[in-house]
Amino acid sequence: MLFFKPLILVVIATRAQAASWIVPGAVWTDTAGNKIDAHGGNVVQRGDTFFWVGQSASQNEKALMYSSTDLLNWTPLGVQNSLEYLWRPKIAKPNGSFWVMLYTGNLGSDGPQLKVFMLIQGKQIYGQLNRNIQSMVSTQMVGGYKLNGAAVTVPPNSYTYSDTGMFQDSDGTWYILTSADHNIVQINKINSDGTIGARASQLAAGAYEAPGILKVGSTYYLIVSGKTGWRSNPNKVFTSSSINGPWTGGADIAPEAEKTYNSQNTFELTIAGNKATTYVYMGDSWDSKGGPNSNHVWLPIKVDSAKKTLTLDYHAMWKVDIKTGVVSFPAAGKRYEAEHAEIIGRGEAAHCRGCLSKRAVYKIDGNSEVVFRNVTGNGRKQWVSFHYEVNSREAGEAHIFINSESVPTNISSLNSRAGYHKTVPVMVSLDRGNQNAVRFGANGGKDFKVTIEGIEVFDDDEEL
Ligand SMILES: *[C@@H]1O[C@H](CO)[C@@H](O)[C@H](O)[C@H]1NC(C)=O
Ligand SMILES: *[C@@H]1O[C@H](CO)[C@@H](O)[C@H](O)[C@H]1NC(C)=O
Ligand SMILES: *[C@@H]1O[C@H](CO)[C@@H](O)[C@H](O)[C@H]1NC(C)=O
Repeated sequence: MLFFKPLILVVIATRAQAASWIVPGAVWTDTAGNKIDAHGGNVVQRGDTFFWVGQSASQNEKALMYSSTDLLNWTPLGVQNSLEYLWRPKIAKPNGSFWVMLYTGNLGSDGPQLKVFMLIQGKQIYGQLNRNIQSMVSTQMVGGYKLNGAAVTVPPNSYTYSDTGMFQDSDGTWYILTSADHNIVQINKINSDGTIGARASQLAAGAYEAPGILKVGSTYYLIVSGKTGWRSNPNKVFTSSSINGPWTGGADIAPEAEKTYNSQNTFELTIAGNKATTYVYMGDSWDSKGGPNSNHVWLPIKVDSAKKTLTLDYHAMWKVDIKTGVVSFPAAGKRYEAEHAEIIGRGEAAHCRGCLSKRAVYKIDGNSEVVFRNVTGNGRKQWVSFHYEVNSREAGEAHIFINSESVPTNISSLNSRAGYHKTVPVMVSLDRGNQNAVRFGANGGKDFKVTIEGIEVFDDDEEL
């Protein structure tokens, strides 16, 4: 047996790198260990492989690409062109013919200038600049992308356009979706030569952007966001029995107050498995400037075909099997209840009606800490859910220390759902064995108070 031990260790080490769940709002890392940085993009499937392109918030909006065979583990494929300030890039034609994307007028001078405007004043300023649709072309899916001629306007009008979306109909036709400065969302066919064809339909029901479409049965669902800069808003859904419209509706896709779980639509992916078809909402959880701290919110979409309704149910951790199309969730992790932890300072344990253990620790302020000791870890990176609530998101932040860490990490820097949801999974490194200490505290104004129910530690492989 001893002889095989090194081999077993190698297998474990390889599996340790594997991402096991889609965790909306959390920092996602690629297979090289770097933060995934692809915003405003889309995902296309080619054979068994998914390709994801998006704008890189840390590299001046260059187009970054990743690939995956499970929608969990993403291999970085690098920057696809050295051009900067390419907004909302979308792949069309998964066989590697072209992308259609948005970019700013004059790359040389407007680009850096634009960036300065954005950092100082946010997205609205950007909205006043001249923008055009442009495509990049390659003969292959990965690499070799070149600008494809001059910028184009979208027929039939010569508006300047902002957010681009992408949709492939069940007959194989690709459509580019655009939202313009005049607030109309427009849908145009993409011709087989890559040029933008006639308008199929438009939605002139309000000020909308960030369009995406999915088709269920014979009904088209158009998801759009409101226009509130980098701040999230309640995204809406409109339906039609034809890509040629007319579009009706305008219902929120999530409870209004959730602001689409703090995200903005970018794309809808269909996973047609052999047991189920799952539609995936892909949204950007922008930071205050659309910068490198922006994350992703992906959620399974619930469609009622009879009622023609579409909603997002929130799941803190989930995944979809790309072969079967079936969505699954993790089994409960190992729980550590706050009332059994060491409580330092003013925090106090008391009855909690909605809590699993019926108790929680209340009134955690800047001078309090809840210390979970003897926490079992697997020696690898693993998800730990913090089950807590804050009395005011504006007044402060909850933070953690793992083992000997002396500087706290704000939970919001690990998961942008921090403070917005009662279950916040974050990826942490615990030591192997049952001697880990996880300290939970708060940092904020004098009225900032936090309640914690407990933590839940997940092992990669458990699932229902
Ligand atoms: C695209 O590639 C797939 C295999 O990856 C192939 O089955 C399909 O026919 C190709 N489609 C086109 C339009 O070339
Ligand atoms: C943690 O485990 C040690 C033994 O390893 C034990 O002495 C100690 O009481 C435990 N602490 C708690 C809080 O359970
Ligand atoms: C953590 O949050 C607190 C309270 O909001 C803030 O003052 C502090 O700067 C944050 N720390 C980091 C490293 O961002």
